[in-house]
Amino acid sequence: MSPESLNNDLNRRLADGYAEIARLAGGLAHEIKNPLSTIRMNMELLAEDFSNSDSARDRRAMKKIELVQQECRRLQDLLDDFLQFAKAHRLDLQPNDLSAQVRQVLDFYRPQARESGVDIVDYLAADLPTVLLDRESFRGALLNLLLNAEQAMPDGGQLVVRTYVTAKGVALDLIDTGCGMDDQTREKVFETFYSTKRGGSGLGLPTARRIIEGHGGRISLQSAPGRGTQVTIALPVLPRLPADGKPD
Ligand SMILES: Nc1ncnc2c1ncn2[C@@H]1O[C@H](COP(=O)(O)OP(=O)(O)O)[C@@H](O)[C@H]1O
Ligand SMILES: [Mg+2]
Repeated sequence: MSPESLNNDLNRRLADGYAEIARLAGGLAHEIKNPLSTIRMNMELLAEDFSNSDSARDRRAMKKIELVQQECRRLQDLLDDFLQFAKAHRLDLQPNDLSAQVRQVLDFYRPQARESGVDIVDYLAADLPTVLLDRESFRGALLNLLLNAEQAMPDGGQLVVRTYVTAKGVALDLIDTGCGMDDQTREKVFETFYSTKRGGSGLGLPTARRIIEGHGGRISLQSAPGRGTQVTIALPVLPRLPADGKPD
């Protein structure tokens, strides 16, 4: 066997091995979710039994139950984020209007933003050229970015959301007035499991990046500590089809 074909063979086996491990990890995450929800349900029942008791012993038990419930929620969120990350490469791309998709996610998110004191200002361009989007994944990614912005503004703030045409396609900016991040942090935020938050999964940005790159797009960050963060998603547009149906 020539060194080149040996190399190809090794690479293929590595890739197969990787795919197998990824499949196993996804299966494992699913398997953990079932017993976890049984634990959660039973903890809720236990909490009901203990909640209205006056005894000091029951109150101590209640504290422990609450701690277990909190950790169960954390595990559940982590598994959900992990499964989201694992499936981020399977995309069903369909022609879509970026502004319309962003508007729908904002409509869904607005009540929560209001509660957190986040003022959303949107400039969503009309008549943007069509992009190919996997709606569910794209919405998931966008929601993650909105939550990051909200979490960066614990005392409220402003979030500008705008869509526009660029030289190569279309883009979406999310600009928050939150805590921002220093250069060291910014370099790490796309690493899986990197998080500066208590209980953070550190999978939001890596998942968003996988999804956006799966669309042939790019995601970039600009940030200034204490001032805020701008996230930009750039997406390619469909080639315009002239009357004869062939791309120019
Ligand atoms: N809008 C933002 N403002 C400030 N820091 C941010 C923002 N978005 C992300 N980060 C930083 O990037 C880290 C990774 O984000 P992410 O991958 O979504 O994981 P998580 O939100 O679980 O921490 C966060 O812990 C935070 O330090
Ligand atoms: Mg996040």
